Amino acid sequence: MLSRNLGQSGISVSAIGLGCMGLSEFYGESMQESEAIHLLHRAVDLGITHFDTAEIYGQGQNEQLLGKAFAGRWDQIVLATKFGPQRDPATGAFLGVDGSPANVRSSFEKSLKRMGAEKIDLYYLHRVAPATQIEDTMGELEKLVQEGKIGAVGLSEASAKTIKRAYAVHPIAALQTEYSIFSRDIEQDILPACVELGISLVAYSPLGRGMLTGRYSSTSDRPTGESDFRAQMQPRFQPENMESNLKLVEAIKEIAAQKGCAAAQVSLAWVLDQGDHVLAIPGTTKLANLQTNLGALDCRLTEEDKAILNELADQVLGERYPPEGMAGVNQ
Ligand code: ATR
Repeated sequence: MLSRNLGQSGISVSAIGLGCMGLSEFYGESMQESEAIHLLHRAVDLGITHFDTAEIYGQGQNEQLLGKAFAGRWDQIVLATKFGPQRDPATGAFLGVDGSPANVRSSFEKSLKRMGAEKIDLYYLHRVAPATQIEDTMGELEKLVQEGKIGAVGLSEASAKTIKRAYAVHPIAALQTEYSIFSRDIEQDILPACVELGISLVAYSPLGRGMLTGRYSSTSDRPTGESDFRAQMQPRFQPENMESNLKLVEAIKEIAAQKGCAAAQVSLAWVLDQGDHVLAIPGTTKLANLQTNLGALDCRLTEEDKAILNELADQVLGERYPPEGMAGVNQ
């Protein structure tokens, strides 16, 4: 399995990791626990070492799940989790982001306990907190590093300016942000800032939340259901945008067909082709899809393929999130 470094932290992980959010929430109902644990174990057997969760996924359930799956096996994986966003325990509604030093400490302790882990390898601020200076958040994170409780610090959806301010307090190993053939807004100044500082980019939703796998052929088979965030509010999956976006996906499918690859493999190959500083954490609840995704490592794109794929992002209809979500990205 191809490995890539998490910045200059000295931690190396599989270039393709597993984004675990969808096992618990946001893309439909949560998986049955035994099936999810089986999937996580098979992922390790297949060479995946990078597992990404967050305090808010399933309001703690996702961390608990990883804790059950990896008890006694922490040495085989790199565990990444995130803190900051607050949710109403009853409704799940988002209540804002707490980046205060007190919350850094208490969230960390709670995550550790939920997972039954001894340390967290990569600990991210999940969204930049408007009411706390990033230097203050970083100060407490640095203490956790010095105490040996976390291996490295990450930021998620941070702007170039925030990244630079944070880095001046303590090195950042990874920036986690949405990045895919359809989502390239970070290329303007965020990705260059990462390159300048030697920070890795961990690409979430590298498959465009499933859109870039070619699994949807028309708006009539778009995701549905109250528990599916895409169906409810993701702009690119709303019928008025999705119809046009699916036409763009045809170009990915054509390249895949010519190569005898899956569209998901072409999409992940595009992300990984951006450089050694880029890692991908596609999410899946299915072993067959996990195996397909790992096959992206053998999918080679030509200059001609890349030229076609590079044309697509500018034509995508719909933002990455609804307006309230967009207010929290690239901050
Ligand atoms: P995120 O990072 O937010 O999880 P993503 O990785 O871009 O988003 O996409 C995840 C979605 O792609 C999931 O809905 C997943 O569905 P399954 O759980 O049914 O697999 C889907 N997905 C992942 N790999 C896939 C593949 N190889 N073929 C088809 N769909 C896939």
